Amino acid sequence: MPDLSRIELRQGDITRLSVDAIVNAANSSLLGGGGVDGAIHRAAGPELLAECRTLGGCPAGEARITRGYRLPARYVIHTVGPVYSDGQSGEPELLRSCYVNSLTLAVEQGVRTIAFPAISCGVYGYPMQDAARIALGTTAGFLATSPSIEKVIFVQFGHEAQQVYERLLKDMRSGI
Ligand code: APR
Repeated sequence: MPDLSRIELRQGDITRLSVDAIVNAANSSLLGGGGVDGAIHRAAGPELLAECRTLGGCPAGEARITRGYRLPARYVIHTVGPVYSDGQSGEPELLRSCYVNSLTLAVEQGVRTIAFPAISCGVYGYPMQDAARIALGTTAGFLATSPSIEKVIFVQFGHEAQQVYERLLKDMRSGI
């Protein structure tokens, strides 16, 4: 039975959250970029890039973990979302595996509280509604068999994105 009880929504800047791990919407080089990737690297400081350089990149759909350095979060889990084209080219499956692989790494590392941005919903062009449905549904399914994760926070930068998540979570909680 999918577990929605440990899911929270928040609006704001993910780099400010004091959680065990924040998830970065990275690209396959893991060498930084714009959007949330840029914000995380700016807040974490140069040691983050130095550690990322040792990882040798990351394929789309997979995840890698590093320390958080100057961030309040202890770890950064870098995952590479799909670039959206038409929704029929494997993007949903890749996006789903971003959430599963990030949460799996978190459990392996003993992470109890983790925050996600809206993976692929910026530069990579994934429609927010479709991506949020995958994010919430995949996470709720994962939490059903992962008691060690205490809280998963979905952090939205914009108000409209926050509303999409709020409406969707409300529908899921009322069984729609
Ligand atoms: N906190 C929370 N969410 C944020 C923040 C922030 N500080 N900054 C941006 N976002 C949101 C965006 O509004 C968007 O909804 O994160 C979501 C993901 O957008 P992007 O950061 O553009 O990530 P993505 O669409 O996955 O594209 C990844 O962009 O930054 C580059 O290096 C990155 O090449 C990669 C690509």
